[in-house]
Amino acid sequence: MTRIAILGATGYTSLELIKVLLRHPQAEIVAITSRQEGNPHVAMVHPSLTNRLDLALENLAPAEVAARAECVFSCLPHATSAAIVPHLLDGGCRVVDFSADYRLDDVETFERWYGEKHPDPSRLGKVVYGLPELFRDRIPAATLVANPGCYPTSAILPLAPLLKAKLIDPHDIILDSKSGVSGAGRTAKLITHYPECNESLSAYNVGRHRHTPEIEQILGRACGETVDVIFTPHLVPMDRGILTTAYLRPLHDITEEKVLETLREFYDQEPFVRVVDHLPATKDSTDTNFCDITARVVRGRILTISCLDNLIKGASGAAVQNFNLMYGFPETTAL
Ligand SMILES: NC(=O)c1ccc[n+]([C@@H]2O[C@H](COP(=O)([O-])OP(=O)(O)OC[C@H]3O[C@@H](n4cnc5c(N)ncnc54)[C@H](OP(=O)(O)O)[C@@H]3O)[C@@H](O)[C@H]2O)c1
Repeated sequence: MTRIAILGATGYTSLELIKVLLRHPQAEIVAITSRQEGNPHVAMVHPSLTNRLDLALENLAPAEVAARAECVFSCLPHATSAAIVPHLLDGGCRVVDFSADYRLDDVETFERWYGEKHPDPSRLGKVVYGLPELFRDRIPAATLVANPGCYPTSAILPLAPLLKAKLIDPHDIILDSKSGVSGAGRTAKLITHYPECNESLSAYNVGRHRHTPEIEQILGRACGETVDVIFTPHLVPMDRGILTTAYLRPLHDITEEKVLETLREFYDQEPFVRVVDHLPATKDSTDTNFCDITARVVRGRILTISCLDNLIKGASGAAVQNFNLMYGFPETTAL
């Protein structure tokens, strides 16, 4: 059994993570943290866990977490996570970080896009990006894994094979993404307040969403070239799910069959990427660790359409996939 601690356990990604880990035969959750006073039982905060996990939330110092757990999932916000992770690593823990703190390679890019000082700048550029479909080989030996962002996973998975195969122009990529409201987390914000988002669809952070540099960096790493994207996210009045449509310029004449074949060959052995002929809907992958992808050629442009559950393949499912690789368990365990 691997002893697990979850930081920021009152949030949405943590709830999904707990549910996945409860069916993992090699994982034992030994600590869950929150700043809430009075050490509430987890079922008080997540009623769906009643009679499933008998633990209280605690406001633990990193040393206390490290004394109890071998592996820590940090579900904290950016900048908070990287203030704590170094102490966990010093305490001998292995860490899967859900935040954006360790995804980018350089401090300047982080501080420009996130508008905050990075608490642990010296590690940037040395942390494994936990997208097994592209970087599986590096994950088993990692002590710290940067779990990918939800929008980035939905964009990187369809595009990386086409860029690697030199089928599309890396400087002419338009990404139109739509996300359910849980993508913004449980912490209250004006745009996710019910009367603001219910029965309404809106674009947000146009041209300045923080996932832009992550998508560009990882796609650039995958194809060995600079990649430029225009990324426009939208908030959709549904609980969960992401649908991303990419508009791409082919570098030469191409058929739909060739694009689909390229995707199929790339993901042939992948347990969690389904290249489909039909147009995927978010509901097809809700509550699963699948990313569904298809492609079309329309008026000389390639379009890819991809769907995933932001809380599972976009966060907690991916984290357990990484955990399985880190500890040598079959990659699909509990997923
Ligand atoms: N939601 C998604 O779809 C998604 C997908 C991929 C990645 N992520 C990333 O995963 C992380 C968690 O996301 P989430 O959606 O689960 O967020 P969330 O629902 O807002 O939960 C955040 C958690 O962090 C704790 N927290 C907040 N501010 C804190 C602070 N200053 N110090 C210590 N603890 C703090 C909160 O606990 P208390 O208030 O109880 O202390 C809460 O448990 C974030 O970094 C997010 O960017 C989210």
